[in-house]
Amino acid sequence: MNTFRNEPLLELRRSTVRNEALAALAALDAKLPLEVPMLIGEDVVQGQVFSSVDPSAPATVVANAHAATAAHVGDAITAAERGQKVWSQRPASERAAALSRAAGILRSRRYELAALAVREAGKPWAEADGDVAEAIDFLEYYAQGALALDGGRPLIQMPGERNAMRYVARGITGVIAPWNFPLAIAAGMVSAALATGNAVILKPAEQAPACAKAVVDALHAGGVPLEALSFLPGGDEPGKALVADPRIHTIVFTGSCAAGLNILQTANTFVPGQRHIKKVIAEMGGKNAIIVDSDADLDDVVPGLLKSAFAFAGQKCSAASRALIHKAVADELAERLAGAISTLRVGPAADFGTDVPPVIDIAAQQRIQGYVDSARPLAQGDTRDDGFYVAPTLFHGLPADHKVIQEEIFGPVLSLETVDNVEHACDLVDAGGFALTGGLFSRSPRTIEYVSDRTPVGNLYINREITGAMVGRQPFGGGRLSGTGPKAGGPDYLLQFVEARAVTENT
Ligand code: SER
Repeated sequence: MNTFRNEPLLELRRSTVRNEALAALAALDAKLPLEVPMLIGEDVVQGQVFSSVDPSAPATVVANAHAATAAHVGDAITAAERGQKVWSQRPASERAAALSRAAGILRSRRYELAALAVREAGKPWAEADGDVAEAIDFLEYYAQGALALDGGRPLIQMPGERNAMRYVARGITGVIAPWNFPLAIAAGMVSAALATGNAVILKPAEQAPACAKAVVDALHAGGVPLEALSFLPGGDEPGKALVADPRIHTIVFTGSCAAGLNILQTANTFVPGQRHIKKVIAEMGGKNAIIVDSDADLDDVVPGLLKSAFAFAGQKCSAASRALIHKAVADELAERLAGAISTLRVGPAADFGTDVPPVIDIAAQQRIQGYVDSARPLAQGDTRDDGFYVAPTLFHGLPADHKVIQEEIFGPVLSLETVDNVEHACDLVDAGGFALTGGLFSRSPRTIEYVSDRTPVGNLYINREITGAMVGRQPFGGGRLSGTGPKAGGPDYLLQFVEARAVTENT
């Protein structure tokens, strides 16, 4: 029986909760910078140090991490070969119990981990807390999923013949994690592989190694053997080495489209000595549009668009970057949004009132600023110069081939486009390469049906914001250039981490 329930979020409006959050932040600050070594099998390994900093106060070093080289990757895979043998032999119930214990550890460190995501990834409290809760959800959900998968699938039986199908681990899994959900996505990708009996090597994002290490520590403490889970902070070098090594069976990646396509290419290049075909499970970004029909309730549309486009400064692959608005309401909505953008509070992630925090680092700030400066905005919110801030920016009526409309920006930028009708909007969505999330504001059941039918996106949201997929409720992931369609947090996700074996016995 599936007893999974999403972890409740903290009630951050309550002063007792806020006080506990602030106490956790103060306790964390007293420990900074954190030390984040490599964990290679049973060894704690030092290397060349690099730092993660607080995007809201870049002079503050959050963690000093030790960068893995290609040689460290080789060592970790050798350890994982031993770990794979041990871990894949453990019964599913034991693997699930380890994941569930890890979830309990994250639960008990709830405030501390949210504080870490506030500092290291610049996530405002509600987003940081959501990240911890989602990490817990993934661990619990995949623990239950592993138990369900363990029974195999029913097959047709014939007299004199007994047929059975069961699932076995694919093999050593390399996980390359992003910084924007530094706890949840790392926990999700790693725990899915572990739940199904695979040894894992995690390469976290350079910007948030301490968050990822907290997930790894919880899994080890929960009972995952050290050799079944190695941890290799660093940049391109360990990532590339991990993908290229012939001993890796599965690569799980969340990040940009360009990086994902490179991984697919490398993984599909056969290396002499390789004894299997590598599988890539990739989640690669989006260019997400919300369609606003003429009958939409603009009182819902304004907050829905603002939240979708500007929460966490638009740094979610699910975030909205286009609004396709029916011509009958386009001018009114543009005017209301232009007014509303100036009310957004731009500020440090740790301030409870912040709507739009800084972006992750200076490279992102400069890249996004390039888009902001590429055309004349309709309206802009505030900005600051004491962190990696970019002013939330609204464009209106840019030409269809403009880079703001064509490219994934991954920042607080929303462009409004006027369309003749919903069919026109669907044509524009359908013309794009990405197909991750999408939205529709409409009160007409026929329009809702029409858009649901025509939209290519993996996650369509009606009359609400288009971010914040919940584990078990909105399996997440898109098609086309948005990825291989993994549907994280959904009932089919674990199937990608296993091979099916059918056994037929002549009785
Ligand atoms: N799963 C996140 C969301 O739905 C994005 O990665 O917002």
